[in-house]
Amino acid sequence: MPIVKLQQVTYHYPFTEKPALQDINLEVEEGEFVAVIGPNGAGKSTLCYTLAGFIPHFYKGELKGIVEVDGVLVQDSDLSDWVLKVGLVFQNPFNQISGAKYTVFEEVAFGLENSGVPRSEIIRRVEEVLQMTGIADLADRSPYSLSGGQQQRVALASILVMQPKVLVLDEPTSQMDPIGTREVFGVIRQMAEQGMTVVMAEHKVEWIAQFADRVIALWEGKIYLEGKPHEVLTDERLVEKGFGVSRYTTTARLALPRGLWQKERPLPVTLEEAVAGFSALRNARRKQG
Ligand SMILES: Nc1ncnc2c1ncn2[C@@H]1O[C@H](COP(=O)(O)OP(=O)(O)O)[C@@H](O)[C@H]1O
Ligand SMILES: [Mg+2]
Repeated sequence: MPIVKLQQVTYHYPFTEKPALQDINLEVEEGEFVAVIGPNGAGKSTLCYTLAGFIPHFYKGELKGIVEVDGVLVQDSDLSDWVLKVGLVFQNPFNQISGAKYTVFEEVAFGLENSGVPRSEIIRRVEEVLQMTGIADLADRSPYSLSGGQQQRVALASILVMQPKVLVLDEPTSQMDPIGTREVFGVIRQMAEQGMTVVMAEHKVEWIAQFADRVIALWEGKIYLEGKPHEVLTDERLVEKGFGVSRYTTTARLALPRGLWQKERPLPVTLEEAVAGFSALRNARRKQG
């Protein structure tokens, strides 16, 4: 039984002609980590809002089709109930910060305080999540004194602490350096291993290749390609539609007709795969003498 089920979902923002999502069919299994890629305007954020109930409960417009999480239709739920099940980490962390709290600790505790969890458990859960997201040392800082990347970690922590069944993330590492990005992907993978279902809009394809179970490629509001990360991320059809493609894939694709990449070898997405591929070719040549 998939925990997330979208059937023939089409959505128009108010007063728009063109649908932002069109005929989306998507099922996500419990504990699965799905990455959503797509060029600007493809509908990634809109898909995140739809999963998280902001469409139709906050953004009006016209939603058609079935949006179901854990057996409940989004239309049959209030946003306040829905967000306990599906947590959304916004693309811009500024939108997540409540503005009501003076420290990172209080900010992360905010959602739990509102849901009546006992004080001692709040403290335990907040401390755990601050550790996990690598911001324990920022606990006493003002959320507004932080860098964009640090704010993104706070935004992630304040959702994780709520322990939603489904975690939706909209480009959660956009303001992070490679080290931060790697750490956050690691945390999210770990959550999926523990049974949390993850849908993440992201264009850092090298990380997606290493951590996600499946990739959905959105284009003009439609699912254009879908499948295992490597199959999708090395598909030629991404190039013509303006998707971000790994530089290693591009390099190997150029090397191939020149005999500098082995034909039978899948194209690489990550640096490690590229190095392995080029080394294998060199070794094969050496053997031939
Ligand atoms: N609030 C809005 N009102 C009207 N149109 C919107 C709104 N937000 C996004 N759109 C449109 O919906 C489409 C998908 O946007 P979006 O989901 O933000 O794409 P992405 O996150 O992939 O860049 C775009 O054509 C965009 O212009
Ligand atoms: Mg977006």
